[in-house]
Amino acid sequence: MEPRADAGQNRPSAAPDSVAPMDPKSRNIVFHPGEVTQRDRESLLGQRGCVLWFTGLSGSGKSTVSRAVEKRLYERGHLVQVLDGDNVRHGLCRDLGFSADDRTENIRRIAEVAKLSVDAGLIVLTAFISPFRADRDAARAVVGTERFVEVFLDVPLDVCEERDPKGLYAKVRRGEIAEFTGISSPYEPPLRPELSVPTAGQTVEASAAQVLDWLQANGFLSGPGPAPGG
Ligand code: ADX
Repeated sequence: MEPRADAGQNRPSAAPDSVAPMDPKSRNIVFHPGEVTQRDRESLLGQRGCVLWFTGLSGSGKSTVSRAVEKRLYERGHLVQVLDGDNVRHGLCRDLGFSADDRTENIRRIAEVAKLSVDAGLIVLTAFISPFRADRDAARAVVGTERFVEVFLDVPLDVCEERDPKGLYAKVRRGEIAEFTGISSPYEPPLRPELSVPTAGQTVEASAAQVLDWLQANGFLSGPGPAPGG
């Protein structure tokens, strides 16, 4: 069974063009740029900062594949950061649950954190269900589309449920978890992801290699390139 976009009580996703940054609540704040640029940091690190935004159902392999990619990039001398849903919900997002509004706020915070890390030149891997297209589009707008790589872990719900690595689907079927993605809360698959990774049909190794090949082919593993005008 495929997850239904209209499942559950959640509000529908807004269209991408409705994504608008919110004005800060604070007044009298002035943005202060530093003298060390993103480009300087990228030269130091020999990579281009970007976000690999993994999205998919619970059990689709987001954490597993992102950790595998992290390890391989680290072994090749790259500076990488993983932001993982279950981990972040123990700290930064510990005040959030799984209502549609809380998920939106969860993704908003992660996008802002990821942007800061991309400014520092890091390759950031985010592993969140991020079920709503509008929220992922908003994250893309925050980071900047040229550095935002949407990676769809394209796995049917029945395969995720069969895997059930945390025993959560079993709990859902026993009626112990409400608003569960794909069953009682919607998942909206990406329409044009930069990468689709079918983890049901290939090994973790092959999935990680697919992501690394994409980064290599798109110039993210070799520094910022020639200076503007130089
Ligand atoms: S998101 O929807 O806001 O992007 P996030 O990725 O942070 O979700 O957290 C999802 C993880 O929380 C799942 O992998 C699962 O381990 C756990 N979880 C607990 N309750 C739910 C639920 N109702 N829906 C989805 N995931 C849940």
